[in-house]
Amino acid sequence: MAAKKRSADSSVRDRMIALRDTINRHRRLYHTLAQPEIADAEYDQMVRELEELEALHPELVTADSPTLLVGGDISEAFAPVEHRIPMTSLDNAMDVDELRAWGERVLKGLGDDADVRYCVELKIDGLAVSLRYEQGRLVQAATRGDGRVGEDVTANVATIANVPKSLPSRLDLPDVLEVRGEVYLPIDAFERLRAAKELENAERVSAGKKPEPVPVNPRNAGAGSLRQKDSAVTASRGLAFWAYQVGEVVGGPEFASHHDTLDFLSALGFPVNPNIRVVDSLAEVEAYCRDWQENRHQLGYEIDGAVVKLDDLAQREALGFTARAPRWAIAFKFPPEERTTILDDIQVSIGRTGRATPFAVLQPVFVGGSTVGMATLHNEDQVRLKDVRPGDTVIVRKAGDVIPEVVGPVLSLRPKASKPWKFPTKCPCPLQSTLSRTEGESDTRCVEPGCPNQRDQRIIYFASRGAMDIEGLGERTVFQLSDAGLVSDPGDIYFLDVEQLLTLEGFGRLSAEKLLAAIDGSKTRPLPKLLTALGVKHLGPSASEALARAFGSLDGVMNASQDDLATVDGVGDVIAASITSWFERPDSKEFIEKLRRAGVDFGNVEVSRAPQVLAGKAVVVTGTLDGFDRDGAERAIKDRGGKSPGSVSAKTFAVVVGREPGASKVTKAEELGVPMLDEAGFVQLLETGELPA
Ligand code: IVH
Repeated sequence: MAAKKRSADSSVRDRMIALRDTINRHRRLYHTLAQPEIADAEYDQMVRELEELEALHPELVTADSPTLLVGGDISEAFAPVEHRIPMTSLDNAMDVDELRAWGERVLKGLGDDADVRYCVELKIDGLAVSLRYEQGRLVQAATRGDGRVGEDVTANVATIANVPKSLPSRLDLPDVLEVRGEVYLPIDAFERLRAAKELENAERVSAGKKPEPVPVNPRNAGAGSLRQKDSAVTASRGLAFWAYQVGEVVGGPEFASHHDTLDFLSALGFPVNPNIRVVDSLAEVEAYCRDWQENRHQLGYEIDGAVVKLDDLAQREALGFTARAPRWAIAFKFPPEERTTILDDIQVSIGRTGRATPFAVLQPVFVGGSTVGMATLHNEDQVRLKDVRPGDTVIVRKAGDVIPEVVGPVLSLRPKASKPWKFPTKCPCPLQSTLSRTEGESDTRCVEPGCPNQRDQRIIYFASRGAMDIEGLGERTVFQLSDAGLVSDPGDIYFLDVEQLLTLEGFGRLSAEKLLAAIDGSKTRPLPKLLTALGVKHLGPSASEALARAFGSLDGVMNASQDDLATVDGVGDVIAASITSWFERPDSKEFIEKLRRAGVDFGNVEVSRAPQVLAGKAVVVTGTLDGFDRDGAERAIKDRGGKSPGSVSAKTFAVVVGREPGASKVTKAEELGVPMLDEAGFVQLLETGELPA
């Protein structure tokens, strides 16, 4: 370490030069051309590496280092605007430890006994702008640019509906007021824009033209929308604004705290985010960050973190700025939900109903909290519209619990020899049967009923969690059984013996017996699980529940007419027709009889005995309760006919608030006037279905 510090070897110097060049190139792509090639997280990582190397080798820091700048270069298209007070960036905390380290630096700067209050805000993932009002009139709007000089986007910003064009005439109105905040594209506006572009592309493709790039995320689409030459185009996009800071202020009231400033802005008609909170401990700051990290997708706009600011303006003054950011604030960044990686291949998987689904084989990348190596591409048209090809660098997105998605290719990095991908004409199974696509349908299918891939998927599905829930009978084991010729439909698993399993790789007597016990245990699964496990097209868990309640046994369902089935609430014509034709097939009959011979319980109906006092009511639970774990509380609600959704809406009947509740749920409930209950109130609600008086 010490040696390293004294003299940087040339490889370190080279690395720093390379980082500087690459970062500068991406800065330009992002800020000036609005055409990023890499995800933010990758950019941040490079900046971090450079910062670390610079800290280690201060002698190698150059004046043009991107670590000393805050934004992008200035584009030629819009007139330059010099910010009278620079628009600085924020330092980032990538995890709780870095947040705490910032907290300690603050206390060190102010003195340990300082009374510190924090204003915590959402970090809106949009574009920073500064709005200048003179005598109450909007006279100029500018982007951040490099922090010192930005671009004049007044005409475009003036089209944003919630940006005040003039302020109410009040005696205390400042002569000059610069309001800073974020211009962003709400998610629904982004979806509209993307859908319109996709439609346009579908038309282009069918006319034999190449598809055009589709906006990849709300932030890029928002940036593109703000930087239109024609403000009518900007106006049509539905941009919006949140105010979160002031710049130059001449005249007007004196403020002691940040939240007083925000209240003033709000009173003047500026949109100030309702989720801003003032708290007085770092523990509460951490809870806020955790809560919003978990609930970020409940908002109608994207956030990429939280911003923590000292509330007391005198304390801010005392701490001041570093070369690039204030010491009195920090951005707590959430883990990235978008990354780029290489798409190695596009393959096709065959589902239990024969549907051939193309999927991307990716070089594994950590995104949205997990490592992603594969992502579905849905169908042939989707691949064509996205125009992703093996060898492409692609943007991968994984937002919350949503399945990972390939957003699109980075066209500028496409290999020269690349060709559009073609959907295979043969099933990847050993039979290599023909894949065909019916005119007018989006799915391509393998229509060979004996297809081993379809069969394997049916068995995997049969044994899966939501169906017969057979522990140890996952994909790998099913493939082994199938390759060994031991199973030809899911019913065969009930006739396996230890000796057969011992022939499979990785099985010993103990593990074989364990698997057989698990298989045996599945014979008494409740009827809805069995119905789901059959793998009838369109027949999912909730329709299975309804059928089980209506007919009481598998034979009852089997003997019911299509009309009888269709009249069951939650079933309907499509599912009924699918069930009837499934039971008519000879292979289905054979499969059912195998299950019967194996002794699978065809009539295990578990009927909830609790009075249905919550029928049709939605009750949201947040935080920890003493008498119930999460599942238990949910079950108690559902057993009484109620629903337990994950978020609060105007339709919510009540919110049960335990210890350390989610702040967003509580806020939402307050906003919408939804009643809130403690645990005792919840118990009463479960008994009576009524809110406690
Ligand atoms: S305060 C000197 N507050 O994040 C303080 N910034 O990484 C300036 N941002 O440039 C910024 N939400 O574009 C602040 N509630 C918020 C924010 C916010 C989003 C953006 C802004 C800023 C960037 C810094």
